[in-house]
Amino acid sequence: MAFPFDINQIFLERVTLLDQTLVAGNRKSTERPDLLEHIVTVIDELGRASAKAQQLTTPITSASKLQSQKHQLYLLKDVESHRGHGMVVGFLKVGYKKLFLLDRQGVHIEAEPMCVLDFYIAENFQRHGYGSELFDFMLQHNNLEPVLMAYDRPSPKFLSFLAKKYWLTQSVPQVNNFVVFEGFFLNKTVAQLRKVPLKKPDGEIKPYAVMEREVVNQEQRALPWPFPLPHSPQRSVSSQSSNSLSVGSSPSRVPLQVTSASAVAGNRDSPQSPLTERCRARRTSSLNRSKLGFH
Ligand code: ACO
Repeated sequence: MAFPFDINQIFLERVTLLDQTLVAGNRKSTERPDLLEHIVTVIDELGRASAKAQQLTTPITSASKLQSQKHQLYLLKDVESHRGHGMVVGFLKVGYKKLFLLDRQGVHIEAEPMCVLDFYIAENFQRHGYGSELFDFMLQHNNLEPVLMAYDRPSPKFLSFLAKKYWLTQSVPQVNNFVVFEGFFLNKTVAQLRKVPLKKPDGEIKPYAVMEREVVNQEQRALPWPFPLPHSPQRSVSSQSSNSLSVGSSPSRVPLQVTSASAVAGNRDSPQSPLTERCRARRTSSLNRSKLGFH
């Protein structure tokens, strides 16, 4: 991804970590106000490209969102290309999220794992090992293993990537958009797992996290699962906060992910019997597994 300015001047390292401050490296943006402007342009452009690649209706990554959320964005550049001005190869956005998850036995567990929230490698750089390079950098930087992370509605390519590079194939069925794999619940220290009672003082817990990629669609809500959904445009609600189960929602992919997303989002607000939840969880899991065959 080329820009009309020198990428190597802005991002000094091959991998740059950006956070809320939008400062690349340890340079002060007050010294070079133009740097900040360029960084904003790069992040917004990457966010748009990622959304397009994932068929999302709205980008889930932008400079303004990064400023308002405690996320880490790893940006990878290629130094040599674009006549020595460098090109941006892609990015990986991660962050901690409080999630209600179901373990293998279907017990609700509260956890706050590091989550992969957005991941994109520019089309002409894909399948050349750049994704692995970026992902490995992030793992090393956070001293993490892929199995201890949660994945926010991973795309078929990403599921294939996780299976190929990290042997993550067996997901544990969930009723929200996040995917966790076998082994996640074994490490209690890192995942900070906690069993949660089914009843809270203020009512039943809602495991259906309203997350950045989720969509609340009136049309879908009207249809009780498992009736098929019409292929209609998705309506999205923009996200404001990153670390809450009850605020904000996000664009969804269309049309590939509509079925799995809607199976969750479409029923999020209505009470479900445990049996229905189990059925739905199993269905989400098999959908995720079938995505692995995507090429
Ligand atoms: N079809 C199927 N699998 C693919 C594809 C594809 N078109 N592209 C990459 N992969 C998987 C395969 O397992 C592939 O191995 P193979 O070529 O031996 O079959 C492996 O990824 C390649 O590994 P890398 O080269 O290290 O990864 P890459 O640089 O291609 O980056 C990524 C992977 C980020 C998933 C990239 O393909 C991409 O940007 N895709 C479009 C956007 C996207 O789907 N992002 C994930 C969103 S979900 C989320 O962020 C939680």
